[in-house]
Amino acid sequence: MDTTTKKKDAVLSGIQPTSVLTIGNYFGALKNYVAMQDDFDAYYMVANLHAQTVRMDPTELRRRSVETFALFLAAGIDPNHSTVFVQSHVPEHTQLTWALMCNAYTGELSRMTQFKEKSAKSAENINAGLFTYPVLMAADILIYQAKYIPVGADQKQHVELTRDIAIRFNNLYGETFVVPEPYIPKIGARIMSLQEPEKKMSKSDANPNAYIRILDEPDLIVKKLKRAVTDSEGEITANPDRAGVYNLLSIYSACTNGTIEDAVARFAGKGYGDLKSGVADAIVDTLKPIQTEYARLLADKAYLTEQMRLGAERAQITARKTVSKVYHKMGFDSYQA
Ligand code: TRP
Repeated sequence: MDTTTKKKDAVLSGIQPTSVLTIGNYFGALKNYVAMQDDFDAYYMVANLHAQTVRMDPTELRRRSVETFALFLAAGIDPNHSTVFVQSHVPEHTQLTWALMCNAYTGELSRMTQFKEKSAKSAENINAGLFTYPVLMAADILIYQAKYIPVGADQKQHVELTRDIAIRFNNLYGETFVVPEPYIPKIGARIMSLQEPEKKMSKSDANPNAYIRILDEPDLIVKKLKRAVTDSEGEITANPDRAGVYNLLSIYSACTNGTIEDAVARFAGKGYGDLKSGVADAIVDTLKPIQTEYARLLADKAYLTEQMRLGAERAQITARKTVSKVYHKMGFDSYQA
């Protein structure tokens, strides 16, 4: 046995199965998940419990949870290497949530930007789950003793809150949790909306021309690219102030694993028509193997079911350990009289 092997740090991240994922999710999250699975003890989760904080049709949620899981695998997350699972399949997350809930303050939860934004958007359904959402997220993270949390800027505040809760708990009950930190990946482009390139590409944008889904057909990708907003300068240079052109160049470099300068060189002296069709081709080429593998996986429900079961089982081994440690520390003991 190799005694020099050090235990790898754990990473955890999750994506909500609320809608079909975009190339923003691919380049910003999934591609990094894949890149990290060698160096870390990686946990990747379909965050279906979080998805019900806004009203979602149960049949649709069920279907999307499986589809998102399949997309994780199709994108290259290796279930023999990483622990990939669906959040609700590991009920320990909600068990830990209660313990953490008693160590999170309503004041800090009401300061969460996402809570304020979401409750402004859905004033008719400001449910308690929407408010305590970050505590469930803290449980997702702390239950696996995860050290690094790859997230976008919008989730950074929730990771900071998780740190505060972990530190507070450790101070009160003794060393229990690894204190996590947000992980901003080395690679990974920030993909912006094709229609309003100052805004991040969002899977919930009302205008479908604003985003490219990982599962979009080639024809549709070409069409959406043709409609992408650029500017009237006509010249292809890498200037972040010219958000539309810059975004297309970033997408191209993300697809080809090159730099922005490489992308500029590729389109030097060309027009926006060439740029748009070149970017469309690059996207189609990048997505093709993922789409093929996705279709294959979805046709094999038995395999997917088995992988979901194995993933949850593996996650549960760690999750149970943490929960029993925490429950013991808090005085929630088993049957002993
Ligand atoms: N809240 C995250 C989002 O909407 C998803 C998520 C749930 C998550 N649990 C997590 C991300 C734990 C990182 C770690 O994007």
